[in-house]
Amino acid sequence: MEASGSSSFATVAATSTMKDLTDTTKERTIGCKHEASREQATGYNGILECSTCKNVYPYKEDCYWDLTLGSGCTGYSKSTTPYANMFRTALVSFFYERGWRQSFALGGFPGPCKEFEHAKDFLKPVTGGVIIDASCGTGPFSRLFIKSKLYSQVVALDFSENMLKQCNKFMKEEMISDKQQMMVKADISRLPFTSNSIDAIHAGAALHSWPSPANAVAEISRVLRPGGILVASTFMFDVVPLAIPALRIVRKYVSQYLGYNTFLSEDELEGLCKACGLVDFKCVRKGLYIMLSATKAT
Ligand SMILES: C[S@@+](CC[C@H](N)C(=O)[O-])C[C@H]1O[C@@H](n2cnc3c(N)ncnc32)[C@H](O)[C@@H]1O
Repeated sequence: MEASGSSSFATVAATSTMKDLTDTTKERTIGCKHEASREQATGYNGILECSTCKNVYPYKEDCYWDLTLGSGCTGYSKSTTPYANMFRTALVSFFYERGWRQSFALGGFPGPCKEFEHAKDFLKPVTGGVIIDASCGTGPFSRLFIKSKLYSQVVALDFSENMLKQCNKFMKEEMISDKQQMMVKADISRLPFTSNSIDAIHAGAALHSWPSPANAVAEISRVLRPGGILVASTFMFDVVPLAIPALRIVRKYVSQYLGYNTFLSEDELEGLCKACGLVDFKCVRKGLYIMLSATKAT
């Protein structure tokens, strides 16, 4: 893929339609570290270069932009938790939509189609805007968002290279063209988007996987525009009230050693959103499944 020309590196093309999603528009979606100053970037031969810091961001595996802060550094790569690392393996990425994701039904997850309906309801006020499918995994929701044609731009974002590669495979199998999608490798705790620029962020079954849900939600709040909406699903382990005190003790260790975050009440999630500037908390639940929605305060 060849990206060419010069464009505003840190501006989201909020008004573009899917068919207008050109390579130039893709460049405009992303941002370097100095997002506040809206640098110009030059894209050439599949590499984006920030004209201010000269940082380069490569296009990898013919499918995703590597926009992690460490990309381009020699000898440095960001470490993550054992739980998040598991999703970076080729094996888990391969089996993710071939049984792994389906197993969430045991916990009450109704499955991508029904979950998509829940998300769509929450996201009604931002229809037509730019949506990031954060921690997209192999992209079950990115594909649904694209096919729905309800959003002007869909960015599939994950920290796992192998998940993004699988995501690309499914996109191709489902005849979703390069022009309809953009894939980005990025850390949820450091999103490569301009502050106040994104209409919606969806994060399916991911909150519990993030190394720091608090950092992640704060970062999501930074990039959402006022009135922008976060929709996220996760597991909620409050179904056996008697077990909650024991789980409260155990979860510290699970989080510390594995990087898996256990949520034990709706109040915890609402409090987390509120502390990060996201209000109007709503949720739907079934068994361990919870899908929440919160809006960036205006
Ligand atoms: C359980 S999968 C969810 C996939 C998909 N959204 C779904 O609903 O099926 C969790 C995803 O979170 C991603 N993840 C973990 N840590 C991350 C981070 N720091 N930044 C971005 N994504 C991360 C993993 O790579 C994995 O693909």
